[in-house]
Amino acid sequence: MHQEVSLLATVAIGFVFAAVFGYLADRLRLPPLVGYLVAGIMMGPYTPGIVADAGLASQLAEMGVILLMFGVGLHFSASDLLAVRGVAVPGALGRILLATLLGIGLCSLWGWGLGAGIVFGLSLSVASTVVLLKALEEHNQVDSVNGRVTVGWLIVEDLAMVLALVLLPAFSGVLGGNADAADAATAGGGLAITLTIAITLLKVGAFTVMAIYFGPKVVPWILTLVARTGSPELFTLSVLAVALGIAFGSAEIFGVSFALGAFVAGVVMSESHLSHRAAADSLPLQNAFAVLFFVSVGMLFDPYVIIRDPLAVAAVLALIIFGKSLIGFLIVILLRFPISMGLSVAAGLAQIGEFSFILASLGVSLGLLPREGQDLILAGAILSIIVNPLVLLGGDWLQKAVHRKWPSLFEQYGKSKHDALSRELDRIRKISEDRNRQHQLEMQQLIETFPMFAQVDENSQEELLLLFRPKVASPGERVIRIGDRGDGMYFISSGAVEVQLEDDPVRLQAGSFFGEMALLSGGRRTADVIAVDFCQFLVLERRDFNVFMSKHPALRAAVSDMAKERKAMNVSRRKRKKSLDAT
Ligand code: CMP
Repeated sequence: MHQEVSLLATVAIGFVFAAVFGYLADRLRLPPLVGYLVAGIMMGPYTPGIVADAGLASQLAEMGVILLMFGVGLHFSASDLLAVRGVAVPGALGRILLATLLGIGLCSLWGWGLGAGIVFGLSLSVASTVVLLKALEEHNQVDSVNGRVTVGWLIVEDLAMVLALVLLPAFSGVLGGNADAADAATAGGGLAITLTIAITLLKVGAFTVMAIYFGPKVVPWILTLVARTGSPELFTLSVLAVALGIAFGSAEIFGVSFALGAFVAGVVMSESHLSHRAAADSLPLQNAFAVLFFVSVGMLFDPYVIIRDPLAVAAVLALIIFGKSLIGFLIVILLRFPISMGLSVAAGLAQIGEFSFILASLGVSLGLLPREGQDLILAGAILSIIVNPLVLLGGDWLQKAVHRKWPSLFEQYGKSKHDALSRELDRIRKISEDRNRQHQLEMQQLIETFPMFAQVDENSQEELLLLFRPKVASPGERVIRIGDRGDGMYFISSGAVEVQLEDDPVRLQAGSFFGEMALLSGGRRTADVIAVDFCQFLVLERRDFNVFMSKHPALRAAVSDMAKERKAMNVSRRKRKKSLDAT
């Protein structure tokens, strides 16, 4: 019982504090997440007043990371990354290497070991996905060439960190970590370490195979199946179940991190055309847990480290803001890409975030990183996130200044590579736009052929496209047999059928429907229906018909009016025939 109360208390206090401080931060024209971090600090053990349960908060934070990585995966386009790989891969890896070396150098100045240096350096080398994406969105830069290069660069950094998270425990024994916390096998010497690494890589390999071969088949299939039920909450639930299920399952079975599992779940889901709905559905929860993530990070932070060790904090901040930026800028320039790209990558990635916290706490738990190191990383993260808007402004200002001073250098340097990349990105965007257009066209055609669907909203039209089962028939084929149970309603997209009424048949063309009577009455088919041409039908099965029509009473009324009209027509025809027979 106590546990439940404290979970509730942690979440409630977390949300209330985060909302208040987030709002205040916004008023001060700072990113709201600065407010969330401050809320966490207020709830943490280092400040007077309320102290929330840090253990619970960190579990909630883990949930935030899972959802966050899932979101990154959903927006991740493999073709985009391939297009920008020329700058993103060498850039990210080169910068991680150099920034880690700088970190190791800084740590050796403080007399810390190599293990601490590596964890510290790695933590400082990776930028924050959340902060960058929010900044790009605010500046409308997500789709620009520089924006895409920055995002691609960041994804490579994230992937490298995922690998680091997997490999760090395996190496912690050699790096001087405490052997108990590290995997027991790694303490046994070189052979055992090789074995651990081999097993780790094997597991990651098996996971990759599963993700590449089965994921894209199974996940979109599940989503379509659930979308066909037409239940929005079931759809949201399934999206979350897939995200959390894959994250947890892959951590349990393959030993990869939750973060990687969730990221892959997102990538796999992005293959489905329902991905935008999945993204929209999971966004509110993602936002809520991301808030708790920042709150829990704030709770870990000891603000007095700034007073205790101002020089170290300043050094860390300088490394993050100036060191990393300079490295990033130089790599872009050396790769012969434009100055403007170098400056925007440098400014966009001049902060550290979620992965740094995860790495730092793993480093502490493995006994590699002193607590002091974690505090410095947290201080570096919080301060670099706070000053990020200023760094971005600085980047803009520098771009303008360089442009003014050396206009031809600014415009000409790296132009050919930039233009080639821009063309390639345009081509990719066109392909995805074409795919969207194709989908739009299908919807448009649906409405043109069956104007009755114009009265339902766009989401329901999409739902219909999912519900419809295509069916074909050749001339002479009996599509419906009189006296059978009604299994579905048929919409004719092309061709024609004849409803076999006693005297003369009624011909129905593309755009009409049949088979509604038995579904509405729950009784048997009232007539034979024969194809008189090559026909294409869209069939709404009985169960789907019932669910869909119950949600759209106006449509049901229209169909039912038509059925009544047809029935009346049949009755009067029968009467007429009887009287003709009698005479
Ligand atoms: P159902 O009874 O399910 O199966 C046979 C279908 O033929 C029926 O639904 C109607 O859709 C269709 N039908 C019956 N009478 C007419 C009619 N007079 N005009 C057009 N279609 C009809």
